[in-house]
Amino acid sequence: MNLIEIKNLKKFFEISKGSFVHAVDGISIDIRQNEILGLVGESGSGKSTLGKVIAGLHGRSSGEVKYQGELLPEVYKASDFLRLSKEIQMIFQDPYSSLNPRMTVEEIIGEGLKIQGVPSAEVRKKVKEWLEKVGLQSEHMSRFPHEFSGGQRQRIGIARAMIVEPSFIVCDEPISALDVSVQAQVVNLLKELKDSFGLTLLFIAHDLSMVRYISDRIAVMYLGKIVECGDADEVFFNPQHPYSKLLIDSNPIADPQKEKLREFKSIEGEIPSPVNIPEGCRFAGRCPSASEECGKVTPQLKSIADGHEVACHLFK
Ligand SMILES: Nc1ncnc2c1ncn2[C@@H]1O[C@H](COP(=O)(O)OP(=O)(O)OP(=O)(O)O)[C@@H](O)[C@H]1O
Ligand SMILES: [Mg+2]
Repeated sequence: MNLIEIKNLKKFFEISKGSFVHAVDGISIDIRQNEILGLVGESGSGKSTLGKVIAGLHGRSSGEVKYQGELLPEVYKASDFLRLSKEIQMIFQDPYSSLNPRMTVEEIIGEGLKIQGVPSAEVRKKVKEWLEKVGLQSEHMSRFPHEFSGGQRQRIGIARAMIVEPSFIVCDEPISALDVSVQAQVVNLLKELKDSFGLTLLFIAHDLSMVRYISDRIAVMYLGKIVECGDADEVFFNPQHPYSKLLIDSNPIADPQKEKLREFKSIEGEIPSPVNIPEGCRFAGRCPSASEECGKVTPQLKSIADGHEVACHLFK
């Protein structure tokens, strides 16, 4: 069953009169109930914008986002935020800047419930419970964010999102700012919460091996479009789109010995400007397999095997 259904979603930012950044440019994808969908792609491909549109932090330019079959408003009003923030939450990359430094941990974690009008004593009780569920102590309630390490701050961010008991969380690079040793702990916490609470997650990250580890499915994004999507192992071990292949090849291997021996292939060239989108396949200018057709016709996502979709003219 699908929790979220996205159809031909577009989000453009007007940067000067008549000039638009095509951050999300026609995405259709479903997110299944109780799955973790990993979202990967180079910087600037539109991952955060997609996450923010789904979470209602950005209005959309066109297209549809359905949550449990309900078409969500294009731009949220205050009443939409109040209602939908119980269902959809977001966890951010930087646990340093995403927590208000002047608020105590109790105020930060309890804010969502307070806005919903939950009585203070109940909020306090829940904050205590959630501190413990995310691996912190209830004595931490009266402290301020600067008194915590990066990993602990991210746990506070997770408790803040979880306390309203959402069904869906957009995790935008929740581990990228953390030490490697702490990353696995936070990822495991998210996995545990997913299993215990039947959560559904969109997990945005750069580290592909971590994405493979946590995700049920992976979607690869390039310049505002999804170019490949499928089961996590299938996309990771058997990528079909030339961009996914290069992206996975350029992912550093955790073992430093093996990493040294490896022939390092980075993706040549730079991601084109999202203001002047090239015609045809957006990746054609950097693609080792591009043909004339690729520079003219935009490839659509096609199913190439069970649950595995690719947008590339190599697949007819
Ligand atoms: N508020 C905004 N106004 C104008 N342009 C924006 C805005 N937010 C994002 N963009 C542009 O939209 C494009 C996609 O940005 P986005 O942050 O979604 O990419 P990303 O895939 O999350 O990148 P990263 O991996 O660096 O986080 C970029 O070109 C970015 O500069
Ligand atoms: Mg981002």
